[in-house]
Amino acid sequence: MSSNPFRPGAGHPPPHLAGRVAEKADFDKLLDQDVILKNAVLTGLRGVGKTVLLGEFKPMATAKDWGWVGSDLSETVSVSEENLAVRILTDLAILTSAVVVKKSDRQLPGFNAGIENNDVTLNYNTLNAVYQNTPGLVLDKLKTVLRFVAQNIPSDMRLIFAYDESQNLSDNAAKEEYPLSVLLDVFQAIQRENIPFMLVLAGLPTLFPKLVEARTYAERMFTILFLDSLNEPESREAIEIPLNNSPNPIKPTEESISSVCRISGGYPYFIQFICREAYDIWEVDPARSIPMQELIQKLDTDFFAGRWSRASDRQRELMFVISELSNSHSEFSVQEIVDQSCMWIKPFSNSHVNQMLSTLGEKGLIYKNRYGKYSFAVPMLGDFISRQPKPEELRKPVITS
Ligand SMILES: Nc1ncnc2c1ncn2[C@@H]1O[C@H](COP(=O)(O)OP(=O)(O)O)[C@@H](O)[C@H]1O
Ligand SMILES: [Mg+2]
Repeated sequence: MSSNPFRPGAGHPPPHLAGRVAEKADFDKLLDQDVILKNAVLTGLRGVGKTVLLGEFKPMATAKDWGWVGSDLSETVSVSEENLAVRILTDLAILTSAVVVKKSDRQLPGFNAGIENNDVTLNYNTLNAVYQNTPGLVLDKLKTVLRFVAQNIPSDMRLIFAYDESQNLSDNAAKEEYPLSVLLDVFQAIQRENIPFMLVLAGLPTLFPKLVEARTYAERMFTILFLDSLNEPESREAIEIPLNNSPNPIKPTEESISSVCRISGGYPYFIQFICREAYDIWEVDPARSIPMQELIQKLDTDFFAGRWSRASDRQRELMFVISELSNSHSEFSVQEIVDQSCMWIKPFSNSHVNQMLSTLGEKGLIYKNRYGKYSFAVPMLGDFISRQPKPEELRKPVITS
């Protein structure tokens, strides 16, 4: 069996977690709050390392005596308020079901209703009984449950509610379901009462604008930890440390290492992907240079092609135009795209670009940040596009005199 240490895959812990020093320090500061003034949003493109970092946050939190509650919201594309409540109660019960509350210690009026035993454990049934016996809206019921838990767990116990893939939470006015707003309202209310329950939401870059759109106060409620690609020294660490630590340490050529850094763009998923392939070659002969062309080809097929195929021909033309912008790696405006498209036989109008970007947003290829600028929602998509055969026939001929 190969001892290949590299782990390209969603949420798979890497053999060495490189960088993220500043983000861990920021999170560590949040852990020192007794009164919760700030919660965390952990955001960045897919494959940049949010899930893995969230996994690192957990032991940091428990080392400072926080309880950790949470789950992954990837399946919850549009939950109802009730589903959100069940989700929170379920997650919470896993942690609190070890807590026994003596009859004499019971707090909160209304708690006894429906609960027979003298001593009760704070398991799902108990939490659910409190929830069901509270009159009012989901918001009121949830607040009551959280207050109840806060009063009955050890007084120095603070809790983190961590939700991955939180960009999936959405309010839905047509269905009169506002799970996202309820989540924010609940935590804002209990934090005002000095209950030390903190929210940590991880998700794609659409997450934070969504929170602010739901509740403007979300702007002040969260510290944003924005994960970007790793810088050059960090990328090298991610490549070299696992190689050094393997049973037979491997030392590839300088040229190989710098190619991996360059082609991966420092994106953690791409580093793992390329190194996973390269390892098998290095294991045999570390001096061999890795077949970059073939690796890029594999990356294009495995990672990009499926996403690219979601776009129509005209949408691809638009993305070709974008990939020609010098700032296609960062953020770009509608006007820049319109201007660039003048080089093409069928240029794009302002409203057309706006409308297409929004469709591409729904397809997960583009996202709009909160300042109204756009970016590719897939790392290095611009580079992938420039590797595709260009529809040259669509470009205006250059007239030379
Ligand atoms: N800091 C890091 N250093 C090295 N590899 C990392 C790092 N962060 C993430 N990875 C790797 O990148 C890939 C994607 O990580 P993941 O946490 O699933 O990203 P996200 O949740 O942002 O989509 C995984 O294969 C993981 O092992
Ligand atoms: Mg993830």
